[in-house]
Amino acid sequence: MSPKPRLFSGMQPSAESLHIGNYIGALLQWKELQTSHDAIFCIVDLHAITVAQDPAALRENTRRTAAQYIAAGIDPQVSTLFVQSHVAAHPQLAWVLNTITGFGEASRMTQFKDKAAKQGADAASVGLFAYPTLMAADILLYNAVAVPVGDDQKQHVELTRDLANRFNTRFGPTFAMPEPMILTETARIYDLQNPGSKMSKSAESTSGVVWLLDEPSVTAKKIKAAVTDAGREVRYDVAEKPGVSNLLTIFAVLADRSIASLEADYDGKGYGDFKTDLAEVVVATFAPVRARALELLDDPAELDRVLAGNADRAAAIADVTLATVYDRVGLLPKR
Ligand code: TRP
Repeated sequence: MSPKPRLFSGMQPSAESLHIGNYIGALLQWKELQTSHDAIFCIVDLHAITVAQDPAALRENTRRTAAQYIAAGIDPQVSTLFVQSHVAAHPQLAWVLNTITGFGEASRMTQFKDKAAKQGADAASVGLFAYPTLMAADILLYNAVAVPVGDDQKQHVELTRDLANRFNTRFGPTFAMPEPMILTETARIYDLQNPGSKMSKSAESTSGVVWLLDEPSVTAKKIKAAVTDAGREVRYDVAEKPGVSNLLTIFAVLADRSIASLEADYDGKGYGDFKTDLAEVVVATFAPVRARALELLDDPAELDRVLAGNADRAAAIADVTLATVYDRVGLLPKR
């Protein structure tokens, strides 16, 4: 049997709770991928500090993120789930990659330009500028070939490929060539109150955001209060009925049903029945995940132990790559 292809992805520990958009848009797909791939999932706390953070909140959110991924089905015995700052090779390789990255090349990253524009050019840090080379280091340390990311991260994976190529050409074949694996568009979830925008943890109001850690009664309330559209027909039509279409997507994914069969079921019934049933489906999916996450968070010492063990597994791979890189670029080994 040939070994499974190596997969790497990262998530920011920047919220207390994941939301249903993260769950459907990423987590469910990651869960599937961990059986077909040798999967490594990294909670990227070093990336999180490229914008201002509250130290206590970052520490807490890092644990919470880990707990929720495990509760939602990322198995830390099947996949490797670890915290980026626990493996020193990440910033170490990033430094070497910085030295082969053009200033102009990094300046062209659209996410940097967006974030820098938001903060004002003087407030943007060198760390924010170097965000993409740290991400390249994440991927290249493990010679990952598959990198599941959202559309907004595709440019960073392209840069990673360019850097891998450049390094391999200059210093000899070292890195495998990663491929972006763009997560499916059908799984994009929109804000329940504002179905024109993606569900986001940084939304101005979170009344349209369903958090994984919400109490079941709150979840049900949010679903029932979701904005629907004029008319009363439960029909998938993104242009005319963005609200209902979004709810149909959520229903279809969580109940593992086709949109067409849902439309048929609710033919002649109103939005009320539809939303009541959807609320039940969402609560049935998330209540056990929430309960498991809270249980994990109740025993932080055990959770930290799992993360430490996973970091050791990651480091065993990363340190080998880093040693090769240091050697290739001519750094004198310490004896
Ligand atoms: N930048 C990614 C995001 O914001 C997170 C990330 C960091 C990542 N390192 C990675 C994703 C490596 C894939 C591979 O979503």
